[in-house]
Amino acid sequence: MAQFYSIPIRDVYKETDDCTVISFGVPSDLEDEFHFRQGQHLTLRAMINGEDTRRSYSLCSSPNEGVWQVAVKQIPGGAFSTFVNEELKAGDTLDIMEPSGMFGVEISETSKTYMAFAAGSGITPIISMIKTHLALEPNAKFKLFYLNRTVKSIIFKEQLEQLRNQYFGRFEIYYFLTREQRDIELLNGRFTSEKLQEIFTKLVDVAEVDEVFLCGPEAMIFLIRDELEAAGMPKEHIHYELFVTGLSEEDKKRAERLAQQNVEGVEITLLDGGKEFHFTMTKDFDNILDAALASGADLPFACKGGVCSTCKCKILEGSVEMKVNYALEEHEVAQDFILSCQAVPTTDAVKVDFDV
Ligand code: FES
Repeated sequence: MAQFYSIPIRDVYKETDDCTVISFGVPSDLEDEFHFRQGQHLTLRAMINGEDTRRSYSLCSSPNEGVWQVAVKQIPGGAFSTFVNEELKAGDTLDIMEPSGMFGVEISETSKTYMAFAAGSGITPIISMIKTHLALEPNAKFKLFYLNRTVKSIIFKEQLEQLRNQYFGRFEIYYFLTREQRDIELLNGRFTSEKLQEIFTKLVDVAEVDEVFLCGPEAMIFLIRDELEAAGMPKEHIHYELFVTGLSEEDKKRAERLAQQNVEGVEITLLDGGKEFHFTMTKDFDNILDAALASGADLPFACKGGVCSTCKCKILEGSVEMKVNYALEEHEVAQDFILSCQAVPTTDAVKVDFDV
């Protein structure tokens, strides 16, 4: 089972006015546990104002670099991001779970053509992919379409420019800005259907792209996904990671319906760390994770919002319905994987396995 390790902070620096990059000093005896693939994330835990606070952040370093780095953008009123941006310093320690997440693809033996759309701190998993694919696939190409408010707020601008020089002819970047006007109209403002169609006509031939990565707010991701599909990109080559900003109407309705479901007296069995754990779930809880934690189980979780997949497990017996699922791919759901933080039992007894 995933667990937390206390890891020292090697370095902390401000990448932009409101974005801090943290480098972790992972000890050599933990390097195997902390081995990661480009696109994966770390879950961080700290006690903030007496509360166990957890957040997941994508690794922005490449596995090739032998460093573990995340970038944390300050969210107004955000407990964890404010703590990182205002208090955390080199020499402190943080509790960190080993890397996880499904975003990204394996290194290809045949040098592919990649394309990515990112907004703001959505660049973090993408820059890890850019560095890794370009370094390990000698003829790979990467096109990046990157949306920010202003030039000054572009996260990793310097590093991206260095990569463009280093991989001249293989790496192209197009910066889009929402609050500064430039001469080329196409590059001003957010992505819209018209703009995307123009991009697919003038800047990139979708038919030549093997894999696409999207990272940013939900509305942007779904718009680009739909336009890519309309332009002929097969769905299985469009990979995305969402920043969830609110539930859709459909998700809200499902969550409300499930909240009213009577789950009094459901017998839950958990397999975790090779052991079985039983408890009876009461209607005080609307998901298996919270009910299990309250019964004393020590299970992994981070966002509790159906986004990070840290609480993933597999249904062995019985059935559940998930309130929302922003983390599991269709093929995982088909294999009975669920997010325990979103799982409402729909049978009288449920058995789940966290050791998968
Ligand atoms: S804890 Fe993040 S998806 Fe369940």
